[in-house]
Amino acid sequence: MSSPTTGAGPTGDIEREVIRRYAAGAEQVEAALCCAASDYDTRYLEILPEEIIAKDYGCGDPSKWVSEGEHVVDLGSGAGKVCYILAQKVGSQGSVTGVDFNDTMLALARKHRDTIVERIGYDNVRFVKGRIQDLALDLDRLQQKLADEPVASVDAWHALEEHCRALRTNEPMIADSSIDAVVSNCVLNLVRPEQKEALFAEIFRVLRPGGRAVISDVVCDETPTDRILNDPELWSGCIAGAFVEHEFLQRFERAGFYGVEILERQAEPWQVIDGVEFRSMTVRAYKAPDEPCMEHKQAIVYRGPWSRVTDDDGHALVRGRRTAVCDRTYRTLTDPRGPYRDSVIGIEPLEPVDASSAGLFDCSGVRTREPRETKGDAYRNGASPTRSAVGPDDASVERPSADDACGPGCC
Ligand SMILES: C[S@@+](CC[C@H](N)C(=O)[O-])C[C@H]1O[C@@H](n2cnc3c(N)ncnc32)[C@H](O)[C@@H]1O
Repeated sequence: MSSPTTGAGPTGDIEREVIRRYAAGAEQVEAALCCAASDYDTRYLEILPEEIIAKDYGCGDPSKWVSEGEHVVDLGSGAGKVCYILAQKVGSQGSVTGVDFNDTMLALARKHRDTIVERIGYDNVRFVKGRIQDLALDLDRLQQKLADEPVASVDAWHALEEHCRALRTNEPMIADSSIDAVVSNCVLNLVRPEQKEALFAEIFRVLRPGGRAVISDVVCDETPTDRILNDPELWSGCIAGAFVEHEFLQRFERAGFYGVEILERQAEPWQVIDGVEFRSMTVRAYKAPDEPCMEHKQAIVYRGPWSRVTDDDGHALVRGRRTAVCDRTYRTLTDPRGPYRDSVIGIEPLEPVDASSAGLFDCSGVRTREPRETKGDAYRNGASPTRSAVGPDDASVERPSADDACGPGCC
């Protein structure tokens, strides 16, 4: 045991210990490192070299929740197993970027890249050197700069800081809002506690609005004891830095994500130390669009089965009731790739509201959308006088139809 802590977190050089441990794990399989997930879809493993399959230090399989055509970043990609599975899943129109700060791991992941790309039939996967809490800074480029101009004075160090700032701003390793899905398998726990906020902010930054994070990581049911927090082996072994379960979800909420959801949670603990249970959990969270709330006369009906639910913006949806929402909320709740799609029915106005003439919508309260607001006062016999196309061609978006229409004089 070394690197004593105060109990608030480690004071030793955790990052160096993590690099040492995973460099060794890249050279020699270490069975005790992480609680490897065993239920990968074996179709995607067929073309992978045995070494990549064996040097798996993950605890879940976030690749399950990624689709064709998507642009994906894998945080802490290790030997590259998840990246190579994703490369096959996203296809030639998608792309996969693995990020890791460990030279030995990167060398292992890159060693088999050309062979695997040839077997897949297209080239859509790359591995970059970076710290996952600073996804703008390309460490391969920084390393090159340091090789060309070693830092030997404070002035040179200031110049290097300026160079890093310029790299982040002008040539970010991962650009703002450029990614459909950020995945990670058993890595976030390895980031120092005081850098975890920056880590979640970076995940949010690189995702496009509506994009999502799918993160498998180790969680614990209560705060680890000082003995656990003081042990560098338990830090690099994905134990001491584990998130307390509910705090893991709160991290996403605080960073601005919505629709945060537990996709998988190991029933039996992977390890129990000092009575604290550690297990794997996979969480998905979506990046909210940053748009004003505009009035487009839409309504959302919550299907149930709960009597009432509240979204991350505080909209309370009562089962079966037409709730007035702004256009941004409407599109978020009915997004076919979003988390709420199967829980709600979207009701569009019969006459679409032109975006240029839409007013602001007050999202502060909860209001019922009167049917006449969506149908229009002139609505009779299943049609309004100037009926036109009503929103996206989508079977579960409910619109008044001729069959629903009241008889003459009924309304
Ligand atoms: C537990 S292993 C998981 C590897 C891989 N995701 C897998 O499923 O096999 C952790 C990996 O994350 C990398 N890593 C840890 N902290 C990191 C950080 N702050 N930035 C970049 N990579 C990091 C390590 O080098 C190592 O390759």
